[in-house]
Amino acid sequence: MVKTQFGIIGLGIMGQNLALNLDENGYTVSVYNRTSKRTNAFMQKVPNNPGIVATYTLDSFVNTLVKPRKILLMVKAGPPVDRVIAQLKPLLTKEDILIDGGNSFYRDTERRSIALETEGFHYLGMGISGGEEGARYGPSIMPGGTREAYTLIEPMLQDIAAKSQDNSPCVAYIGPRGAGHYVKMIHNAIEYADMQLICESYAILQTTIHPTAQELSQIFDNWNQGELNSYLIEITAKIFTRIDTDTGNPLIEMILDKAGQKGTGKWACQDALDLGYPIPSITAAVEARNLSSLKEERVIAAKILPKSESIFNEEPQIIIDAVQAALYASKVCAYAQGLALLTKASKEYEYDLNLAEIARIWRAGCIIRAQLLEDITQAYLQNPDVPNLLIINPFKELLQSRYEKWRYVVKTAFDLDIAIPAMSASLAYYNAYRTNRLPTHLIQAQRDYFGAHTFERVDKPGSNHIDWISDP
Ligand code: 6PG
Repeated sequence: MVKTQFGIIGLGIMGQNLALNLDENGYTVSVYNRTSKRTNAFMQKVPNNPGIVATYTLDSFVNTLVKPRKILLMVKAGPPVDRVIAQLKPLLTKEDILIDGGNSFYRDTERRSIALETEGFHYLGMGISGGEEGARYGPSIMPGGTREAYTLIEPMLQDIAAKSQDNSPCVAYIGPRGAGHYVKMIHNAIEYADMQLICESYAILQTTIHPTAQELSQIFDNWNQGELNSYLIEITAKIFTRIDTDTGNPLIEMILDKAGQKGTGKWACQDALDLGYPIPSITAAVEARNLSSLKEERVIAAKILPKSESIFNEEPQIIIDAVQAALYASKVCAYAQGLALLTKASKEYEYDLNLAEIARIWRAGCIIRAQLLEDITQAYLQNPDVPNLLIINPFKELLQSRYEKWRYVVKTAFDLDIAIPAMSASLAYYNAYRTNRLPTHLIQAQRDYFGAHTFERVDKPGSNHIDWISDP
């Protein structure tokens, strides 16, 4: 029997499309799914294709693969990954490579990679971004694990990955153990902020100038031609054009305003809190989804707490241009926070991350792909050790020149009682980050007053405590 070069376990949308992508790139693939029904349904989509081999037991799946076996797990994150690994392990030989391509929590990947590598297997925790279309035609791929394991599958990953404008594949070795899934988690966290900022921009436009869905589509389409050029802006413009077949209304008006989430954004915030590192635009975006899910409470509160009747009287183009600038500036803050957290985590977890490479592989294929990432890549290439993108060009000047419009948009939104948690958090972040003396010395005084927690002085080293009640 001719053996196949690659195996995929889990034929959900991502698994199926990755199998098709590998096949199109000339690789033979064995596929296995827990339920045979799904395997059969998939095989019907690829009739008479000798390059894709369906298997119905893990035994036969493993036996169809050339050694060292390269097996991609595309199963639901969490316990299912551990279950499949436990079932597979007795069937494998040392040196085989297991790759987890789901959105696993990076600490689970740390645990699994340490355990499997100790037993002589190779293990890669691999972030894959791009949704269905990316999986099929080229995702952005973030593999973490040993460099040796990565090297064994590098050509294959380069072939199936998205290609950026300069034709370089959007894949790079990220770092050891859970580094790949950590970077994917931050990718998703930035994705949350990006999406929330777009929603807030939409809310401001709606309340100020009441555009039709078609007009909104046109505005976003125009923005997509400039510095905001990105996948998320592009699909937003398209979303506004879709008509609901049931009612004839724009479909967007018929969609319930409760945003779901699978956990990667929350994990990023939890990790940032553990590291004591600020990512307020991202945290605001996660919280905004949580708040959105309180639909029933919001409907009641809206009746009890009506908003003011302020009216916007300016020229529409003024606010359209200002929101464009505010969205861009806020978006830069969100990307800067996510990437700065990567710098912090890289030191803390000894990942040795290369920020320029990470920005480079996010330029195509992934959900946050954007023109901005080209500038970020160049900025990190020239300033690999910079703690935060905000302090270097082009971002320093780009934000300075957009500041007036950004502040005007935030003020206008506040005047009109529009909730803009991520955009206002971004502006506050920008202003706090560029403040050399924050009011937090007062917190230190308060902590020392009630709890003798001590404080440092501005004029001499050491920690101090005074008795705030009795001392003169
Ligand atoms: C990607 C996406 C993807 C994620 C979805 C949904 O990079 O392709 O990030 O991995 O699962 O965007 O995420 P939420 O359900 O958490 O919004």
